[in-house]
Amino acid sequence: MEEIPLKNLNHAEMPQIVTEVPGPRSRAIRTREDKHISPGLSAVALISGLAMSDGLGALVRDVDGNIFIDFSSGAVVTVTGHSHPKVVEAIQSQIGKFVHIYDYGSDIRAEFLDLLAETAPVGIDTFQMFTAGAETVEGGMRLAKAATKQHEFISLFRGFHGKTVGALSAMGGNYKKGFGPLAAGIVQTPNAYCYRCPLNLTFPSCNVACADFIENVFEQQTTGQVAAVMLEAIQGAGGVIVPPAEFMTKIQAFCKRNNILLFVDEVLTSAGRTGKMWATDHYDIQPDIITMGKGIASGFPLGIVGSSSKLMENWPWNQYNGGTSTFGGSPVSAAAALATLKVIKEENLVEHGAALGFYIKSRLLLLKDKHISIGDVRGVGMLMAIEFVQSRDTKERITQEQAEFLYREILKRGVLVASAAPIMRITPPLVLDEVLADRALDLIDEAISAFESKYHFG
Ligand SMILES: Cc1ncc(COP(=O)(O)O)c(C=O)c1O
Repeated sequence: MEEIPLKNLNHAEMPQIVTEVPGPRSRAIRTREDKHISPGLSAVALISGLAMSDGLGALVRDVDGNIFIDFSSGAVVTVTGHSHPKVVEAIQSQIGKFVHIYDYGSDIRAEFLDLLAETAPVGIDTFQMFTAGAETVEGGMRLAKAATKQHEFISLFRGFHGKTVGALSAMGGNYKKGFGPLAAGIVQTPNAYCYRCPLNLTFPSCNVACADFIENVFEQQTTGQVAAVMLEAIQGAGGVIVPPAEFMTKIQAFCKRNNILLFVDEVLTSAGRTGKMWATDHYDIQPDIITMGKGIASGFPLGIVGSSSKLMENWPWNQYNGGTSTFGGSPVSAAAALATLKVIKEENLVEHGAALGFYIKSRLLLLKDKHISIGDVRGVGMLMAIEFVQSRDTKERITQEQAEFLYREILKRGVLVASAAPIMRITPPLVLDEVLADRALDLIDEAISAFESKYHFG
């Protein structure tokens, strides 16, 4: 049977679930893959059991013909939606000329860098391209070392920076477990997780003591040779944690007082994800180094380290090959990213994401009034999360088994969310429209009711 193009579908009739989920074709593909694929895939890939066919905008179709509303953007990536025609066209046209020609100059990269410099936070005008976010974060760390001739880093509790050793050493949480020894000289300081304050205080009477705590960490846990404080301005994978403005202002002041660079990892928050072009733009701060990734090329693998040209002029970063990698600087990545920046501008996606994100969050807050398993709703723009708890008094999180049940309830109704964990992330493409948003939210509401009834909440 001929499949209907996703662009011809009526959004009021979405999603469209035509088989059990996963359906027979998904199951057959996954069984075949399972013979050879490494087991550590994402929880959402493993739990859903889905094999995908195609996507357009905020719609995703699996191989059984089920059409889902995408509240995930894959791994929080596709800001311009799936297969935006202008991004696809730009990639296709460039790939016909060169797939790879190392990092020789190209017209397309020159145009991209001009536009990126116009768009980047104040003071950031020089860039080195890489591929994955982790590799890019490592690049940012090398740049910080080259620029300061210092070698230590302070990062945040619950930070997420990638799975290479330097980046991993800067992370909080579970991903580090079992992978020691990690890099020396990288220590963590409390984040502003106000729902579960690491210092057991309450905002605003705490006067953001978590930010002041960095003085203790600097004093007690470092040798005083700190190159940079590296953090996400808004933490993504750690649970969508949006710090109060004072937190970031205090951290910046600490950096300035001690001649330490401020390195903001914007891999996840790049390209309008948070309702501003960069998460940095929500705060009165001026980072010395930023890393970009994920949405910056709409899903084509690209990571970028940005700073002032002065910072990049330091040895050994500035020597021949000092910043390169095999796939860094490819004209195809540049074409994808240039098209992404143009689409974001032409379609006012930052403003649209901010407004629609605000609307979605207000509906999530109404769900919180209705469902007692919701402990907290937070986020900004199209980066949101619901934290589920057994009880609002104890704030004990729901179990992983419960979270997986809830994820499946949402999935079988036709909505893809970004995580199958007690902190459920909601991160739709910025091109989502209000009709699809409302449909997905109605279904999430229904799924939470089914979840609460199964586990006898209330
Ligand atoms: C803030 C941040 N930095 C770095 C990374 C690592 O990116 P990648 O998975 O592309 O290596 C991630 C991935 O989620 C991230 O969220």
